[in-house]
Amino acid sequence: MRIAFVGKGGSGKTTTAALFSRYTAGLGRPVLAVDADINQHLGVALGADPAAPPPRALGGDLTWLKDHVRGENPLLPSADTMIKTTPPGPGSRMLSLDPSGELLRRYSAVAGGVRYLVTGAFDESDIGVSCYHSKTASPRSRPARWSCTSTTCSTARGSTSRST
Ligand SMILES: Nc1ncnc2c1ncn2[C@@H]1O[C@H](COP(=O)(O)OP(=O)(O)OP(=O)(O)O)[C@@H](O)[C@H]1O
Ligand SMILES: [Mg+2]
Repeated sequence: MRIAFVGKGGSGKTTTAALFSRYTAGLGRPVLAVDADINQHLGVALGADPAAPPPRALGGDLTWLKDHVRGENPLLPSADTMIKTTPPGPGSRMLSLDPSGELLRRYSAVAGGVRYLVTGAFDESDIGVSCYHSKTASPRSRPARWSCTSTTCSTARGSTSRST
């Protein structure tokens, strides 16, 4: 199950996503939280030390991320052929919630009992309709019943997002 917390600026997306993620993780459910908000505060809201460096940003090395998610997909011969909304296909690597997986080992951190990812800071070219796809190369979570992903996301003008 994927759950998105969207809304205008300052409406409580990050707070609600952090509380929901902690509550769900506290029930023993597997949770992966993704901070795709323009203001990247989810880690601190979960309980991370504000003075500690954030986890490695998904948007920081898009070539690695695209190569990872395209996997052995013969339709995508290189990372350059992937655009923001390229869907997964045969041979693509899906995001697993197993913390020993390569992607989570590279990018995720844990705060308040919740494993989380961060897209990294947004700049002008990312905002508007681009939203978090521009930072994540559209990694898709495995559509399994046991998964639960929460995302916090906002848009440039603070209106409701359409891309989560
Ligand atoms: N249910 C609530 N009642 C009162 N205050 C709240 C509530 N939820 C959040 N807040 C407060 O509102 C402010 C904005 O919350 P938050 O940062 O979660 O919003 P946001 O939508 O993620 O903001 P941004 O768009 O800046 O990322 C914070 O000071 C937070 O403590
Ligand atoms: Mg926020």
